[in-house]
Amino acid sequence: MTAAGWIDQVFCEDALAGLARIPDGAVDLILTDPPYNLGKDYGNDSDSQTVEDYLRWTEQWIDAALPKLKPNGSLYIFLTWRFSPEIFVLLKQRMTMMNEIIWDRRVPSMGGSVRSYSSVHDTIGFFVRRKDYYFDLDAVRIPYDAETKKARSRSIFVGAKWLEVGYNPKDLWSVSRLHREHPERADHPTQKPLEIIERMVKASCPPAGVVLDLFMGSGTTAIAARRCGRHFVGFELNPDYCAIIAERLAREEQLAAAAPAAAPPAAVAVPAAAKKKAAPRTRKPVLKRSSANS
Ligand SMILES: C[S@@+](CC[C@H](N)C(=O)[O-])C[C@H]1O[C@@H](n2cnc3c(N)ncnc32)[C@H](O)[C@@H]1O
Repeated sequence: MTAAGWIDQVFCEDALAGLARIPDGAVDLILTDPPYNLGKDYGNDSDSQTVEDYLRWTEQWIDAALPKLKPNGSLYIFLTWRFSPEIFVLLKQRMTMMNEIIWDRRVPSMGGSVRSYSSVHDTIGFFVRRKDYYFDLDAVRIPYDAETKKARSRSIFVGAKWLEVGYNPKDLWSVSRLHREHPERADHPTQKPLEIIERMVKASCPPAGVVLDLFMGSGTTAIAARRCGRHFVGFELNPDYCAIIAERLAREEQLAAAAPAAAPPAAVAVPAAAKKKAAPRTRKPVLKRSSANS
């Protein structure tokens, strides 16, 4: 299959089967947010497996996906505390772990668990294959605010490069989960914020490189890749979510067309049945209160 056959496509199919479409060593970044096995309803049973089946399946897709990565590529995986210990061990046997990033979902304090502490974060593993992995820190530096700059206004700091370029993001990322009223929000129960995904793409995928997401959900990774001038490829099992991805990408196309230097068009291989469902959308939102997985 030629590059044009799989680049900038989201295939509405099982990721394990679909990976065969992608040549080995063709992907710069695997950025993925698999089912956490917490019993969410994705219209399939992927989040309700026995622990043994879930871990076996996870190992299976990891071993099928890793050959797709370039030698200097990286992998980010979203998890929760429930299975991150087992899955991190699994990945550490195959790659080098660079960070455990904590996504603080900024959940407000209102009730929650009464026999344990309320879980308000997701756990993200950042892994690489080799020492010379691609990482563009300058692309994700956080500018110092005016107050900090002022506090560093003593003559020894004037003109200091670090003060101008901003600081290195820490491994605790405080970004609000997407609320129902958020303009970015789509009809998917565990949609991730673009702000987080775009940071990973900018830091760990070179411009015009390729990002692979095996579990696209509402297509956040594809949208982030488009916005950052990268290519994407991925899979999603649920045809309703594939339709959402198609809608989101089409909206991106419109925005890009309205802006100068528009990126090349992208596609989602959505089955006809899902396309019919997509517009007008009559399905009631299946969203539950929490937008993250736990
Ligand atoms: C945690 S969600 C991803 C959410 C996504 N990051 C977003 O921002 O919208 C996981 C997704 O994986 C999909 N999925 C589960 N098993 C799959 C499989 N074998 N192949 C492809 N997709 C699958 C589910 O339907 C679900 O939409």
